[in-house]
Amino acid sequence: MVSKLLKNRLSARIKSTKRSSIREMFRLTENSDIISFAGGLPDPNLFPAKIIEKATVSVLSTDSKRILQYGASEGYVPLKQELIKRLIQKEKIQLTEEELIITTGSQQGLDIIAKIFLNYEDIVIVEEPSYLGGLMAFKSYGAKFIGIPCDENGMRVEIINNKLKNLAKHEINRIKFVYIVPDFQNPGGTTLSLERRKKLIELAEKYDFLIVEDTPYKELRYSGKDIPSLFSLAPQGRVITLCSFSKLLCPGFRLGYTFSSKDIVFQLATGKQSIDLCTPPFIQAILAKILENNELEKHIQNLISVYGKKEKIMLNSLNKHMLPLKIPTIEWTKVEGGLFLWIKLPEYIDTEKMIMKAIEKKVAYVPGTDFYHDGSVKNCMRLNFSSSTFEQIDRGIKRLAEVIKSEKR
Ligand SMILES: Cc1ncc(COP(=O)(O)O)c(C=O)c1O
Repeated sequence: MVSKLLKNRLSARIKSTKRSSIREMFRLTENSDIISFAGGLPDPNLFPAKIIEKATVSVLSTDSKRILQYGASEGYVPLKQELIKRLIQKEKIQLTEEELIITTGSQQGLDIIAKIFLNYEDIVIVEEPSYLGGLMAFKSYGAKFIGIPCDENGMRVEIINNKLKNLAKHEINRIKFVYIVPDFQNPGGTTLSLERRKKLIELAEKYDFLIVEDTPYKELRYSGKDIPSLFSLAPQGRVITLCSFSKLLCPGFRLGYTFSSKDIVFQLATGKQSIDLCTPPFIQAILAKILENNELEKHIQNLISVYGKKEKIMLNSLNKHMLPLKIPTIEWTKVEGGLFLWIKLPEYIDTEKMIMKAIEKKVAYVPGTDFYHDGSVKNCMRLNFSSSTFEQIDRGIKRLAEVIKSEKR
């Protein structure tokens, strides 16, 4: 809906941007008795308010003149130092301060990456399905997409070669990067196998594109063994890694960080300067204090224990309520971490059309269509299991099974 006054003034960029269905759903289901599996929300009962309160009092009483002032676009140095220490301990990744930038959520990192790399009609290789916020960021800078399907081991990277080998040189040159969520993908829940990670790096070297790996769920593993990041496997400068504290601490902090080579991070800082000058130093100082006090790791262990249980409950509820429907083509991912399950339904079900019926039955999900760059797949949905209670998960899946049962073949 655009008023006459705005019509001739809006940029082509904003006119072609479709609003996020997840954000819309968030508005629709907020403060209602709908059981929502739609948002990617962490459980608010697990927000570590006491830890945050203690760190806030401490930084305000010792450093208020510095942290209430404007800060560097690259980030608050004590936080960068804590993050660098943590990366060595947890991932054996060795970085200098110039190789890491703090961002206002990792979503801002995605937007800046699009801003510094993409000219109109440049190409980004994406997973099918892919993270909606990434697709939106790249589309708003005019990106075209090459989609690569996923299976239970993540992106089927071998297909990249088939798709690229027949492209002309000038088209290959327009491929700027592959965008991938390798661990517990949003929306698919899948994890890219080690073999495929190595193959992807090989292809990036062969065709000379960058890899943007987005890892907000990597630390939320409930079973199985951690797989090394693309960054740690690739030569220097090939990979840009985005991380976020939205799921590990709280999304209201809007804190993320991105690391890569020094020259890429320099360009990211330039791109960030005109967006928000800096991420709030006050918030960065609180996180730095929490890390310095070594209070984050125990909190993450608690998240893993609760979310791991919720994931199991959702899987059990799917077995309990969906299998009796006797529809052989319903499938769901068996995930080892993250916040999402991905459900594939029979072809005759259009999840976008079904959503209003689901909301009437007081259950919500995100239709899968929006996670495809070309909107081509209609029969999938994403379910979030972190934000509902144990009891709501079972009740919500029961309602969802009833809605699916009532769809006409
Ligand atoms: C894959 C992925 N990347 C980025 C983001 C944005 O996260 P942030 O809250 O750090 O901006 C999300 C949020 O759900 C996500 O799932």
